[in-house]
Amino acid sequence: MGNQVTVINHPLIQHKLTLMRRAETSTVKFRTLLKEISLLLAYEVTRDLPLKTELIQTPIAQMEAPVLAPDKKLVIVAIQRAGQGILDGMLELIPSARVGHIGLYRDPKSLIPVEYYFKVPHDIDKRDVLIVDPMLATGNSAIAAVERLKSTNPLSIKFVCLLAAPEGLEHFCSIHPDIAVYTASIDDKLDELGYIIPGLGDAGDRLFGTK
Ligand code: URA
Repeated sequence: MGNQVTVINHPLIQHKLTLMRRAETSTVKFRTLLKEISLLLAYEVTRDLPLKTELIQTPIAQMEAPVLAPDKKLVIVAIQRAGQGILDGMLELIPSARVGHIGLYRDPKSLIPVEYYFKVPHDIDKRDVLIVDPMLATGNSAIAAVERLKSTNPLSIKFVCLLAAPEGLEHFCSIHPDIAVYTASIDDKLDELGYIIPGLGDAGDRLFGTK
C-alpha cells in the first residue's frame, strides 16, 4: 500500500470503541461515545496543522506565542448520515472549521454509492479537507467521496473513520494511493452484506436510533 494508513490506538479511543461495539449500548451512549472518540481523532489528525506566532502579553511578560495559521481553516466534510456523528465531535475541538456535506447512500443490492447531496464551502480550493465517515466497509462510499472532493481541488484531503475492513481499505488505497487514512481499528473482514466483522453494526442506525 502506498497510502499512509494510521491506526490511532490510544487507550482512551480503544476503550470507548469497545463500549460502542457492545450490542447493548444505548443510542444516547453510542452518540456520546462517538462524539468523544471524534474529539480524540481530531486531536491526532490535526497534528500537522501549521502555526504562526503572535506577540502577546502574559501577566508577567511579552512573548511570541504560537497560534493556528488563520488562513488555513479546515473543511470537515461529513459523509451522510453517519459522518454527522464524527463531525459533531470534531467541531467541538475545531469550532472554526468550515463544514461540507456529501450525501451518499449504499444501494443495498449492488453496494454502489449513490450521491443525493453535495455542498461544500466555495473557497474549498484554498483549504485542507478532512472527510469523515465512521465505517470504511467496502470502501465504495469513501472512494466516491474522495473522487468528488478531488474535483473541487482542495489543498489536501485526509480520510478519517472509526473502523475499516481490510478489503475496503485495500480497495480504497488501490484507487486513491495519495490519500492518508486514519482509523481507530482495522477489523477482521466484511460479510456478504457489506457489514464490518466484528464491527459495531449499522453506525447510522445506532447513532440515530432508526432500527
Ligand atoms: N456501514 C455500517 O454502518 N456498518 C458496517 O458494518 C458497514 C457499513
